[in-house]
Amino acid sequence: MTEQKATNITWHEGTVTRSERQQNLGQKGCTLWLTGLSGSGKSTIAMALEQVLLQRGKHAYCMDGDNIRHGRNKNLGFSAEDRAENIRRIGEVAKLFADAGIIAITSFISPYRADRELVRELNKEADLPFIEVYVDAPLAVAEERDPKGLYKKARAGEIKGFTGIDDPYEEPDQPELHIRTDQLSVAQAVQQLLDSLEQHQLLAP
Ligand code: ADX
Repeated sequence: MTEQKATNITWHEGTVTRSERQQNLGQKGCTLWLTGLSGSGKSTIAMALEQVLLQRGKHAYCMDGDNIRHGRNKNLGFSAEDRAENIRRIGEVAKLFADAGIIAITSFISPYRADRELVRELNKEADLPFIEVYVDAPLAVAEERDPKGLYKKARAGEIKGFTGIDDPYEEPDQPELHIRTDQLSVAQAVQQLLDSLEQHQLLAP
């Protein structure tokens, strides 16, 4: 657990209830946590889902690892400690979005099981739905796609500690959803995510 540094702080309870927020927005907030190798298709399906949800009048917001590392988390690299902090911070941000009634879609490699479990716990403690989605493409497929040319650099030794090459990726044990992007189209993957949101009754207040 992260150290609580500040002392003499008191939680101030608001008067707006979660149910009031949900009624206002016509949906429930949640976190859809996409995990998988670089090049597995996380960001592609996350952003496609965000688009479809907005077209349906739902409020969703996509947080993408590469994008967040340009701003909020620009002071973090790819050591195990920095990746853990990256995931913890985004877990907290997604929790705030979910509490506000938004469908928070996160797209981070999040390679370590323990980091993902911590985020799951944060949301569970706050009684907010957390759906872990394993966006699964075999390493060979992700490497073949290599959309940013990073696997090539990692194989050439130009990037050290690259996930899947010389840094680990720990597969989820029991994700709520397992999407094989090497076997499905983007539209099919998005449909699976929508079905999951429906099953969890999150698209109604
Ligand atoms: S995470 O491991 O901390 O969850 P995150 O999803 O934020 O990673 O960022 C991963 C993205 O950073 C990759 O898609 C890739 O574009 C880029 N990247 C740069 N260096 C590395 C590295 N060493 N390992 C993995 N991804 C890297």
